[in-house]
Amino acid sequence: MPNLSSLSIYDLVIFTIVLNLKNNEKRLKMKQIHLLSLLMAFIAISCTCSSSSEINQRKQLFDFDWKFKLGDHPEASKIAFNDKDWRNLDLPHDWSIEGDLNPDNPTGNDGGYFPAGLGWYRKTFKAPKDWADKKVGIYFEGVYMNAEVFINGESLGIRPYGYSSFFYDLTPYIKTGQNNTIAVKVDNSQQKNCRWYSGSGIYRHVWLSVKNPVHIEQWGVQVTTPEVSKEKATVEVKTNISNNTDKEQELTIQAQLKGKGSDTFNNEIIVKLAPQSSNVFSQKITVENPSLWSPENPNLYSADIQILNQGEVLDQTEKTFGIRSISYSTDKGFQLNGETVLINGGCAHHDNGSLGAAAYDRAEYKKVELLKAAGFNSVRTSHNPPSEAFLDACDEIGMLVIDESFDGWRTQKTPFDYAMVFDEWAVKDVQDMVLRDFNHPSIIMWSIGNEIIERKEPQAVKTAKLLSDAVKEIDTTRAVTSAMTAWDPEWDIFDPLMAEHDVCGYNYQMHQSESDHERVPSRIIVQTESYPRDAFYNWNMVQSHSYIIGDYVWTALDYLGESGIGRYYYPGEPDGEHWTRNFYPWHGAYCGDIDLIGQRKPISHYRDMLYNPSKKLYMAVKEPNPEGGVIKETMWSVWPTWESWNWPGYEGKDIQVEIYSRYASVKLYLDDQLIGEKATTIKEEFKAVFDVPFKEGTLKAVGVENGEDKETFILKSAGETALIKLEADRSTIKADGQDLAYITIKLTDKDGIVQPNAEDELIFDVEGEGVIVAVDNANLKDTSSYVANTRKAWKGKALVIVKSTRKAGDFTLKVSAPQLKETAITVKTE
Ligand code: GAL
Repeated sequence: MPNLSSLSIYDLVIFTIVLNLKNNEKRLKMKQIHLLSLLMAFIAISCTCSSSSEINQRKQLFDFDWKFKLGDHPEASKIAFNDKDWRNLDLPHDWSIEGDLNPDNPTGNDGGYFPAGLGWYRKTFKAPKDWADKKVGIYFEGVYMNAEVFINGESLGIRPYGYSSFFYDLTPYIKTGQNNTIAVKVDNSQQKNCRWYSGSGIYRHVWLSVKNPVHIEQWGVQVTTPEVSKEKATVEVKTNISNNTDKEQELTIQAQLKGKGSDTFNNEIIVKLAPQSSNVFSQKITVENPSLWSPENPNLYSADIQILNQGEVLDQTEKTFGIRSISYSTDKGFQLNGETVLINGGCAHHDNGSLGAAAYDRAEYKKVELLKAAGFNSVRTSHNPPSEAFLDACDEIGMLVIDESFDGWRTQKTPFDYAMVFDEWAVKDVQDMVLRDFNHPSIIMWSIGNEIIERKEPQAVKTAKLLSDAVKEIDTTRAVTSAMTAWDPEWDIFDPLMAEHDVCGYNYQMHQSESDHERVPSRIIVQTESYPRDAFYNWNMVQSHSYIIGDYVWTALDYLGESGIGRYYYPGEPDGEHWTRNFYPWHGAYCGDIDLIGQRKPISHYRDMLYNPSKKLYMAVKEPNPEGGVIKETMWSVWPTWESWNWPGYEGKDIQVEIYSRYASVKLYLDDQLIGEKATTIKEEFKAVFDVPFKEGTLKAVGVENGEDKETFILKSAGETALIKLEADRSTIKADGQDLAYITIKLTDKDGIVQPNAEDELIFDVEGEGVIVAVDNANLKDTSSYVANTRKAWKGKALVIVKSTRKAGDFTLKVSAPQLKETAITVKTE
C-alpha cells in the first residue's frame, strides 16, 4: 500500500479505480471502502485547506543546504558567484567551536581562546512563480555578529548585535520562477567584543516567510491576560494586520483559544483596513475555569488567529500563551496567580557547551530540563536575549525567566562591544526583544542591562529611563529590572538609578538589602547574581524578607569563556581571579551548579535541598589537599567535592565527607561501622562534615528524624575500570536533521560503579542515521577539540552528542577504549 499522504488526489483516484477493477473478491471490499473514506477525508482536507498549504509557507525552516566559507568574499553576495567548492552545511552553525583552541586567539580568556574572524554563507533557492503576488521575507533568529544580508547582490542591511532576531522584506527583490541567492556576511573579526564565548556564525534558525499581501505582521500577535482567577480569565488578543493592496479590505478576524481539553473559546470581529495600511485590532475573550500557568503546572493555551476575506483564509497563525497573573510588592514579594513564589534562580549564558553557540532546539530544551531537574524555578538569560526554543522550553517545562537585553550600555567593557552601536541600536534591540518574546508566560521581568560601567554618571539614569520607557511602550505587564553592582563602598549614590526600575537587581550586594530597605522602603529587590558558595546565606535572606524576591546564582550551568571563573587550583599553579591574567588551558567557567556534560555538582544538590525541602539527603567527599600544599579557591568556586570514595594514596588519612540533609541529624557509617552522628538543622545550615580515615569500602549516610532512620545514601569505592556503560537521554529522536541524542559514557568497575578516577581515551564511531556533532568530558582544562571522534573521560565520564539525519531509521554509537571492551548503543530516529 503506498503512503497515502504522499499521493495527489489524482493519484488516489487512479489508484482507487485500479483497485476497483482488480477487486472481484469480497475480502477486498472492506479495503476499498476504507480507502474511499480515506480518499474522501483527503479531499475534504484538501478543500477546506485549499489555501492552507500556502498559509503554511508563512514560516518555513530555511536551515538546510547552505554553503559556507571562512574569510571575506565580497563577490559572494552576487547570484552568479560560483560557490561550488564551498563547504555544504546545515544551520544552526557555529564555526568557532569547530576551530582549535589557542592561547593566541584574539578572543582570549573572555572568548575561551576559540577562533572568531569572518565568514560567508550562501543559499540559492528557486522562488515559485506563484510568489509573484506574495509578501516574501526572511527571519534570522540570531547571527553572531554584524550580519550583512544580501539578496541577489543587494544588501538588505547590517545587524550589529549578535543576539537580536531580525527580519527583512524580500518582496521587492525576489525573482519568481528563477533562482535567488541569499548571502550573509558574518563579521566577528573585531576582538574582543564579548566577555564570554559568543560563537560565530548563523547559530540560530533561519525562516523564510511567504504571506498574502494582507497578513499578520512579524511578531504581530500579542496575548495578555488582564484578569485572571481560578473561575475565569479575560484573554486579550491584539493582532497587527497589514494590507499591502491598493484596495480597502473588509476582514474577519477569528480568534480561537484552546487549552489541553476540548473546550475552545472563540471570538470573531469584522474590521476594515485602508489600502496600504496596517492596524492593531483587539479581541477580548473569556476563558471559563482556566488552567493557570505556573512552574509546577505549566499549562499552555494556543491562540489560533485567522484573517478571512469573504470566507477565504488570507493568513493564519497560532501562538502559544499561558494564563497567569504576576505582581510584585514589598510585603508579598513576587506573586504568581496571587501566591508568593520565592525565586530560586540561576544565571545562564547562551552557549550549549560542546555544541558552542549552535542553538539546536533539543540543546536549548535540554538546558531547561537540566535547570528544572536541579530544582531551579527561574533563569536569568545573562546577558542577552536567548533563542526562541529556549523560551519555548521554559514555557513548556515551567521555568520563570528574566529576559535580559544587554551586558552594557554606552561605556565599553571590551573594545568592540555593544557600546559601539548603543546610540544607534539600543532602543530597537530592546524593543525587538520585547516584541519577539512578548507571549511567553515564563517571562516575568525584562532586564535592560548588567553592571553598567557608567553607573556613577548622571546620564546612566537617563539611559535607564530611555530603555525602561522603550520596554513599557510595548509591555506594561512585566517589571523592568537590571543588574546593579558596586566595585567600591559607594552604593547609596545609585538610588536615583535604581528608582528607574520596578525591581532592583543586585549583583553580589545582598548584604546591602536590609539597610537599603530602611532607607528606601518601597524598593523591591532581587539578587541577580550571587556566589555559589553563599547559597545558604542568600536562601535565608530570601526566606526572611518579603521585599527580597529571590536569588540568582552565578551560574546555574558551566559555560565556555570567562575562562577560569570558579576554578580551584593546586600548589604550583598560578594564583588569582579570572580577570587578573590568562589561565589557559582553562577555557570556560567552572562556576556552574551543573557541568558541561549535564552532571550536577554537589552544590546543586545543596541548593536544591534549600529551596525544595522534599529532597532530603545527599553525600559527597571533599577532595583532600595534596601532599605538602593546599587547594586554593577563587571567588566563584566551591571546594572541589565529588561523589567518590576512591582516594588512592590517602589510605589511613582523614578525608572530609560532607552530608547535606533536611533531617534533624545524620549518621555516617563506613562498612557498617558508625563513624558518628551530627545535627543537620537550619543552625548547621543543613550540613555535616565528618573526618573519616580513608579506606576503601562503603560509606552510608542515614537521615534521622525523631530518633528513626528515614533514608540512606550510599557511596561505594569502585574497583578497577572494567566496563563502558552508555546511556542515551532518549531512545527515539526525530529524523529531522536537527534532533540530538545526548549519550553519556560512564566507565565503571565490573559491578557498574563509576570509577571516579578513570581518564581513558575514548574512541567514538557512529553508523546509520546519525552524525557525531560534539564530544565533551566537562573538564574545562582539556583543550582537545569538541568536534571530534575521541575524548578522554574525566572523573569517569564523557558525553557524545549525535544529531539525526533527515532519514528515518536508527544509528548505533560504538565506544571503545584501548583496554576495554567496545560497547554500542542504538537510538531510533523517526
Ligand atoms: C559579574 C558579571 C557576570 C560575570 C560574573 C563573574 O560581575 O555580571 O557577567 O562576569 O561577574 O565574573
